[in-house]
Amino acid sequence: MKSEILNIESIRVFQRKLSSFFGVSGYEEDVSKFILSEIENKGLVDRVWIDQLGNVLAVKEGNESKNEILLDAHTDEIGFMVSHIEKNGFLRFVPVGGWDIRILLGQSVILRTESGEIMPGIIGSKPPHLTSVSERKKIVELNDMYIDIGMSSKDEVLNSKINIGSVGTLSATFEEFPNNMVCGKAFDDRTGCNVLLHLMMLLNENSEIKDTVLYNFAVQEEIGRIGATTGAFKLNPTMGIAIENTTAADVPGIKESEIPVYIGKGPAITVADKSIISSPKINRRLIKNAEQEKIPYQLKKPMYGLTDAGKIQVTREGVPSSVVSVPCRYIHSPTSLLKLEDIYDTVRLIEVFIRNPANI
Ligand code: CO
Repeated sequence: MKSEILNIESIRVFQRKLSSFFGVSGYEEDVSKFILSEIENKGLVDRVWIDQLGNVLAVKEGNESKNEILLDAHTDEIGFMVSHIEKNGFLRFVPVGGWDIRILLGQSVILRTESGEIMPGIIGSKPPHLTSVSERKKIVELNDMYIDIGMSSKDEVLNSKINIGSVGTLSATFEEFPNNMVCGKAFDDRTGCNVLLHLMMLLNENSEIKDTVLYNFAVQEEIGRIGATTGAFKLNPTMGIAIENTTAADVPGIKESEIPVYIGKGPAITVADKSIISSPKINRRLIKNAEQEKIPYQLKKPMYGLTDAGKIQVTREGVPSSVVSVPCRYIHSPTSLLKLEDIYDTVRLIEVFIRNPANI
């Protein structure tokens, strides 16, 4: 498509790269380091730094600075944590963030050792040959699952630098589907990081902007939106938008009235979710600019999910906020599926929101 900076190929390259990093909540360093180096090497903003919790914070000054607009995307992904090591080398685990327990069994996993290396594993449970017919009809509980990393004793596990507190996630490769659809892990919310990096490049290219833009690539969203809370406090914005990945349930067996958003229909603007009633003023500025510039968008049906915006809005004396999301099927799984055009249109929507040609 049109620009040298913003095109489907570049979005694909960044989506592949960003989603490949290991970044379970609390262990986002690889993601943050990549983002920081992209911003620094390309000189995209006036100031950028990593704060004490690991957020990548950045400031791009506007000419008039009437508004200070915070854009937030989270760097972490859901995963699990080792909670117990069995004498025979098997690992018990607890979730970090919200998994659908039904998808875990039989999956390949990656674990991060204390020295930062990645180790493979498998989530197992009692074999089907040993279970009764009635047992097989039941969902296997997390307590009955374990991770097998091929070790035969607790000592062997400890020597390989896996211990209580070690984290991991489901492993998945980035796959390309027809129609510019791509599949992978951690799309929630490396997709938002992808949007923000492209936006930074666009705004840097055409450098005249009125409003100051503040960025938070935030840590630990999945366990309580921690980085969003502290980053917004530091940056002190006058309005905020969280850029997210959201549930496209446009699949068989779902009633139309219960489908929050659709793949391929452009960025989804939240009117309300479980954490926020979006600012009508911000949504008006998004919608008027989208319509003027002919950028597709959809309204996300309430009240699904919660986002960093819920924390941004209660910063200090209060910050009017909203959410813009890229639709994604099978979110919170290693096989998230989205359409690259939806990321492209999300970047365009946020860019016109910042430039505000409709003058809202
Ligand atoms: Co998210």
